[in-house]
Amino acid sequence: MTNSRLPGFYQLSIDERRAVVARERGISERDLAESFDHGGLELRTADKVTENVLGLYALPFGLGLNFQINGKDRLIPMVVEEPSVVAAASNAAKMVRAGGGFSARMENPLATAQIELRDVADEAQARARIHAAETELLGAAASSLSSLVRRGGGPREIEVRSIAPGHLVVHLHVDTVDAMGANLVNTAAEHLSGELCRLAGARPGLRILTNLTDRRVVEVTATVPAAALAGGLGAAPGDVVDAVAAASLFAERDPYRAATHNKGIMNGVDSVILATGNDYRAVEAGAHAYAARSGTYRPLATWKRSGDALLGTLLMPMAVGTVGGTLRVHAGAKRALELAEVTSASDLATLAGAAGLASNLAALRALATEGIQRGHMSLHARSLAVSVGAEGNEVELVASRVMQLGHVTESAARDALDALRSGGQTGENQ
Ligand code: MEV
Repeated sequence: MTNSRLPGFYQLSIDERRAVVARERGISERDLAESFDHGGLELRTADKVTENVLGLYALPFGLGLNFQINGKDRLIPMVVEEPSVVAAASNAAKMVRAGGGFSARMENPLATAQIELRDVADEAQARARIHAAETELLGAAASSLSSLVRRGGGPREIEVRSIAPGHLVVHLHVDTVDAMGANLVNTAAEHLSGELCRLAGARPGLRILTNLTDRRVVEVTATVPAAALAGGLGAAPGDVVDAVAAASLFAERDPYRAATHNKGIMNGVDSVILATGNDYRAVEAGAHAYAARSGTYRPLATWKRSGDALLGTLLMPMAVGTVGGTLRVHAGAKRALELAEVTSASDLATLAGAAGLASNLAALRALATEGIQRGHMSLHARSLAVSVGAEGNEVELVASRVMQLGHVTESAARDALDALRSGGQTGENQ
């Protein structure tokens, strides 16, 4: 059983961290190095992935720690360039852990294709004829997806929507199993368009998936005991619960705040989506369309007081896959799935959702209490310490000294390091 509680992990060197993860997950350090030393993608492979390739473009690959999801410890692969995101999510996951961890589910997810029907003369008749032919239409769609059907998936349902007089859209809902499924549903949509036009007496329109995947929604909840939430803040635990709930209410009442609140959620979600080779544009499009589904842009996660604890709930579409696409060629993405012990696309969706909810909790807790700048500055201080050459435990000593002095600059870090190495006080002359 993997243990995601790895105290002091952040203080280790990259090689030391790899050794810990190798032990924890039974993956060799050599394999980890091969997957992550060069970003997981060979130049000659990259040349086949997209066009006009000049090279590779790297981002840091980190691990979100302390996560417990549905009773199991999970290491969360995160690819992100923004400092604090991984640390903040790990810190929030530790608080959630104190309340029993995240509960997450994604049941019977379906991808959806849209087949547009234009200039429909008699909508009622068109609807009736399409519904009467539903079994044949699903069968025809299945015949275009034979390998998916062999894997246990396939078309499940047809729905007819009217979006303007004479303008219908047929939704074909497909179980794509562990594939993200964009190509699969697009194929089926193109296959059905002719027959649907014939049945409806319509002119053909577009045939393409929708990214508003509201049949593919992940639900994640977390209960954080007040004492765990308030740890290290020096404030009354109940007040911190109320402060986070009030910050959530602000997002529920104001779309301008909801946009930023959701950006904080996407810090966690996108990091997992990127790390696992998934389509972050699709997940982003789905998230924001879903957030606006009531006609007003709303938060994807909310927090409320529940007795002596804070209860968070996230609900958002999560169109992800664990087979095909980038995963065919990207060694880093494949290794990420292995590190996280991902068992299915729905399982991966729960990981991304939990990372989103954790990121949101960390942001609201900081914003509602001490503000986010202090946490950011202490991480910045640490990276300055590393950039001026601090090693091992010098990093923490130099970083805490520059924080103490309130000068989080490269020259302050250099002075603090010089002072430390010459045996004096760290940067006392500042
Ligand atoms: C920054 O990347 C994300 C936050 O702005 C999110 C939020 O305000 O909730 C801190």
